[in-house]
Amino acid sequence: MPPPDSRHGAGGSRAAQDLVVDSKALQGAGARDSWRTLSGATDRDRARAARDALADTFFAHFLRAPALVGGIVPSSRVLARAMSRHATGYDAIVELGAGGGSITRWLAADHPRAALTVIERSPEMARRLARAWPRAHVHHGCVHERAECLESLPARTVAVSSLPFRSLPADLAHATIAVIERFLLGHRGRSLVQYSYGLREPFAFGSTALAWRRAERVWRNVPPAIVWIAEQAVEGR
Ligand SMILES: C[S@@+](CC[C@H](N)C(=O)[O-])C[C@H]1O[C@@H](n2cnc3c(N)ncnc32)[C@H](O)[C@@H]1O
Repeated sequence: MPPPDSRHGAGGSRAAQDLVVDSKALQGAGARDSWRTLSGATDRDRARAARDALADTFFAHFLRAPALVGGIVPSSRVLARAMSRHATGYDAIVELGAGGGSITRWLAADHPRAALTVIERSPEMARRLARAWPRAHVHHGCVHERAECLESLPARTVAVSSLPFRSLPADLAHATIAVIERFLLGHRGRSLVQYSYGLREPFAFGSTALAWRRAERVWRNVPPAIVWIAEQAVEGR
């Protein structure tokens, strides 16, 4: 079966998929006249504005596609800073699954000289990211659809990922891992920084030339997370 495309509702429940339609309809209407809530607002205006604000939250992003978003809240500041710390010293950074930008903000602030590329499946989130960080090259779509973009990045590039491999549909996870493997095997100077919950490695590589190491545990995240780094294994180790 061919790998799935960047899907809104993939992996989501029927109720969550219904919400996509609902919230999209609301977004268009609500954005046009939200100013009326400042004065002379009717109850309907207020209700619409409230639903509008809710539709723009990370939780709503989760409800639209739970398996693809993987959690109901974004990474904590402590975890985001830890992820960014491990992206130090590279010419370029590519962030995979940036969501609302909780890690993006630190990558942009901590590494002003590194070229920053972002790949995010959700079109709404990708639009927000592009608006918030105009210096970043933001690509909307799934990582496996952006293989050429990843492979064309400089030799010394680090991929910073919060893709939820444990909940992604299996075909999507396999297609994504294959692209990440090709990226890492392309140059010895490349690495992948990935967090996960639980003690196991985030996912298994098909190639024995790639290896994981635990970089640090972040206790002050809910739930506590482990930051992992994957790169080409050192020969003879
Ligand atoms: C767990 S959220 C992480 C959001 C943010 N980086 C954070 O740490 O709070 C995972 C994000 O990955 C995105 N995503 C899931 N599968 C993807 C894929 N195959 N390609 C690109 N983005 C994907 C989701 O839309 C979601 O925004």
